[in-house]
Amino acid sequence: MQTLFVTGGAGFIGCNFVRYTLDKHPDVRVVVYDKLTYAGRLENLQDIQAKHGKRLVFVQGDICDGAAVDAAIGENQVDTIVNFAAETHVDRSIMDPDAFIRTDVYGTYVLLEAARKAGNLRYHQISTDEVYGHIHGDHRSLETDCMAPRSPYAASKASGDHMVAAYYITYGLPVTISRGANNIGPFQYPEKVVPLFVTNALADMPLPVYGDGQQMRDYQHVMDHCAGIDEVLQHGVIGETYNVGTGKEMTNLRMVEIMLDELGKPHSLIQHVEDRQGHDRRYCMNVDKLMALGWEPDYTHEQAIRATVRWYVDNRWWWEPIRSGEFKDYYRRLYGERKVISKG
Ligand code: NAD
Ligand code: DAU
Repeated sequence: MQTLFVTGGAGFIGCNFVRYTLDKHPDVRVVVYDKLTYAGRLENLQDIQAKHGKRLVFVQGDICDGAAVDAAIGENQVDTIVNFAAETHVDRSIMDPDAFIRTDVYGTYVLLEAARKAGNLRYHQISTDEVYGHIHGDHRSLETDCMAPRSPYAASKASGDHMVAAYYITYGLPVTISRGANNIGPFQYPEKVVPLFVTNALADMPLPVYGDGQQMRDYQHVMDHCAGIDEVLQHGVIGETYNVGTGKEMTNLRMVEIMLDELGKPHSLIQHVEDRQGHDRRYCMNVDKLMALGWEPDYTHEQAIRATVRWYVDNRWWWEPIRSGEFKDYYRRLYGERKVISKG
């Protein structure tokens, strides 16, 4: 039986990946290693634990703690590391970059070193389209494009990617990297735009659209991303990087309109507010390399948005306690003083 060490497996994409993997591969067991920051939640794993029992083991720990990582890998006979653990929210990285450097840069190094010391374990790094920076004209980012990150978050993820490549070249560590687009779906912490706006709209609160809302994003369903990661783990070429997205793009405003229509809420909830500092205007990746392995996305943007809206409507048990806790201070800090530009 193969054992995957899934760091950050109690977060949004990590928990969906664990769900996908244990359902698809009966011969795999998963050790989730997660610090349980504000974004990591044991509730995200409870249905998986109930379904798969001993095939899922949870260890609470920090990826920056080398001794704890080595112990968890050794005790569980791990053969593959899949690193989702990261600080992930761009706005938080603008307010306070420190944790991003520690986890996304130093933590990645600790995991690579652990993989090397344990006998060159297979290592997969979860990265992001944000490392390419914002894209001009009608170009779609290729895996061979230079990285040009523009936020502290994106820079920390790009640093992680560089370190992964260095371990492949220097030590022959069997690595792959995948770079995902903007994921949406179940269990996404409601600081990110789609769950934030759905849960605001359900409370008839304004939706704070940054600037003119004409920024372009590739809103990808998380299960398509998880299937893409699995494809790279099964068939990816060692040392290579793969983009994972739909290869298409949509403005933030269009995404909001679809969401409000699905909810039956008025467009007058839209409120244009002061833009994010250094806001990247456009991300879009070419995904031909992954498709050549046989993967393709199941969801269009619109299907992904509508399915995500329905999940938040049906799963108040999950997000209502989050929004009533520490989240309120965060919301006041980010949006409380923010200048409103226009409404509707
Ligand atoms: P998330 O914020 O929902 O979850 C992050 C998880 O990592 C949490 O469970 C948290 O507790 C854990 N974690 C944080 N610091 C840790 C540490 N020091 N040690 C151990 N665990 C720690 O993030 P997500 O959206 O699920 O993103 C997962 C990965 O995918 C990240 O690497 C992110 O950069 C990447 N990614 C995200 C997206 C997206 O749209 N969300 C797109 C592309 C790539
Ligand atoms: O593209 C992949 C990235 O997608 C991941 O690497 C990140 O971890 C993930 O957080 C996400 O980053 P974004 O910055 O694109 O996601 P966010 O949900 O924060 O914002 C999406 C878009 O919506 C972006 O253009 C900013 C805008 N936005 C966001 C918020 C929170 C608003 O207009 N208003 C908001 O209140």
